[in-house]
Amino acid sequence: MRHLIDPLDLSRQETGRLLDLAEKILDKPQEFAHCCDGKILATLFFEPSTRTRLSFESAMLRLGGQVLGFSNAQSSSAAKGESVADTIRMISGYADIAAMRHFKEGAPFVAARYAKIPVVNAGDGGHQHPTQTLTDLFMIQRRRGRMGGLTIGLCGDLKFGRTVHSLIKSLVRYEDVRFVFISPEELRTPGYILKEVVEPSGHPWREVRKMEEVMPELDVLYMTRVQRERFFNEEDYVRLKDSYILTPEKLRLGKPELTVLHPLPRVNEIDQRVDEDPRALYFEQARGGVYVRMALILTLLGLAPGILEED
Ligand code: NCD
Repeated sequence: MRHLIDPLDLSRQETGRLLDLAEKILDKPQEFAHCCDGKILATLFFEPSTRTRLSFESAMLRLGGQVLGFSNAQSSSAAKGESVADTIRMISGYADIAAMRHFKEGAPFVAARYAKIPVVNAGDGGHQHPTQTLTDLFMIQRRRGRMGGLTIGLCGDLKFGRTVHSLIKSLVRYEDVRFVFISPEELRTPGYILKEVVEPSGHPWREVRKMEEVMPELDVLYMTRVQRERFFNEEDYVRLKDSYILTPEKLRLGKPELTVLHPLPRVNEIDQRVDEDPRALYFEQARGGVYVRMALILTLLGLAPGILEED
């Protein structure tokens, strides 16, 4: 049995095959409409979510399966003090696969140790968000035809943004990737990611403070929201929240084929006028998340032979 807790739980080859399957599903969804008949997905969301939870649920429903779960910690027995280990032990008898989002880093990892069913990390605190990364890679591959050979700018809250951490971890596995980290000093990429992930990869990287400075060289611009819920005080958040706002004027400096991504939700880091630009792909990206999660559910339930190495 396999879980997806960290993006590296799937090898680069497995990831590639899973994204190819997502592409096939997107192409002919009707062929997959009954693959999960009789299967149940549990969505255990201890922290707010719109896209991730609903795209997981939509994915399972589109595969013919059913869903159950909760969307905040208050409506679950966690409010009574139940541990993650006990919750997942019990859910193992109620569902065939579980997606868990938790405000504590490492909670889905603990859950996987006690689970009798595959567990997917749907975001753990400021740590990792592997299914968002699969969605991001899917969009990059669809638009650019490849992951390697690109200059990728990651902009905003690189400290607390779990989507950024997972995306970097995955991207270092491709050839000739160049990273540009665009953030205020206080929201820089964590040292452990730079030292343990980026530096050993040998890929060129640099940190800058101004988006305009690097815009002309980027192939992909990955915007992120300042993660208000992870700040210790509101004053710091208020001071940093508008550090970067992508406007049509700034985007004018970008390449014609630039790919602008955002995991969403957007607060105000992307001016709404940018939405009309054909380079703005974040809503398309969110749509792709359903197909990626369909492919993942099939894979972890053992219904898509040939994707995982041991198959
Ligand atoms: C992201 C998350 O939850 O980390 N959202 C998502 O899953 N699409 C990004 C964010 O909340 O800023």
